[in-house]
Amino acid sequence: MSSTTRLEFPKIASLSAYRPEKRTGSCSVELRNVNLTYRNRKNSVPVLHDINLRLFDDDFVCVLGPSGCGKTSLLNVLAGYNTDITGEVLVHGSQHSRPDPRVGVVFQQPNLFPWLNVEKNVEFGLVMKGIPRKERTSVSAHYIHLVDLDGSKKLLPHQLSGGMKQRAAIAMTLAADSKIVLLDEPFSGLDALTREAMQRHLRSIWKTSNKCFFFITHDVEEALLISTRILIMNAHPGRIAWDFHNPLRQDGDADFDKIRADKEFVPLRSALVDLIQGDDEADSRKVS
Ligand SMILES: Nc1ncnc2c1ncn2[C@@H]1O[C@H](COP(=O)(O)OP(=O)(O)O)[C@@H](O)[C@H]1O
Ligand SMILES: [Mg+2]
Repeated sequence: MSSTTRLEFPKIASLSAYRPEKRTGSCSVELRNVNLTYRNRKNSVPVLHDINLRLFDDDFVCVLGPSGCGKTSLLNVLAGYNTDITGEVLVHGSQHSRPDPRVGVVFQQPNLFPWLNVEKNVEFGLVMKGIPRKERTSVSAHYIHLVDLDGSKKLLPHQLSGGMKQRAAIAMTLAADSKIVLLDEPFSGLDALTREAMQRHLRSIWKTSNKCFFFITHDVEEALLISTRILIMNAHPGRIAWDFHNPLRQDGDADFDKIRADKEFVPLRSALVDLIQGDDEADSRKVS
């Protein structure tokens, strides 16, 4: 089946239905004309080109793109780590130019303190903010419950499985009261079964936490299962080539099996792979 045929499926045509500039609602983060160039003594490499992006409070965004296209660099700009940019980054309307608790980050390798148990790790950001013990305990209990680690809160990181560590790291980030949570391929080190369990967890955490999630993945199927919105980046230089509602997530409560059984799941997955690779034919047929 050619990519031309695939793009004629109705739900793929609906990729064009989304227009970010027409969105209303509370905007967590806005990037305006952001460009990033890495420089060393010998040369300079343009990595991000003219990124304009608005992330909303109720978004679960998945970012797809070929390796090296600038996904992590973009996340680092959002996190306030990459500051050598031109353009503007706003978090809830105010300038954002350094790491700040409003923006939480979950890395591929869970960033837990090895000498602190789960509960103390989750409370760490609250201690730094000077929150009293009683309040800390109640906030950490809430997030530990959300990630389903109630029975493991006294364990140290080395006593946890990969999936449990990742859930503890997510609870730690959520407890710090970040309004937007950035996740850089957090499940890529997990085995297939744990990974699917984590995808389900994350989806339900997002639904109850009322935060914007910005999730990088190289897995098209993962993006179709968990996101409400998909960004596709292309390379050289890194840019956002596509930005649309996930057509399979119109029903917010659909479970993964129902999404996989949708007759457009497979053709959509193939169309997205073409778009990620910057397939010329798919590109020339942009459904605008
Ligand atoms: N600190 C850095 N200095 C110079 N080049 C970098 C640096 N970080 C990333 N790059 C380069 O920028 C490009 C984008 O990298 P990255 O954002 O990690 O891509 P992705 O996450 O999509 O794989 C790559 O070519 C990479 O080699
Ligand atoms: Mg990366």
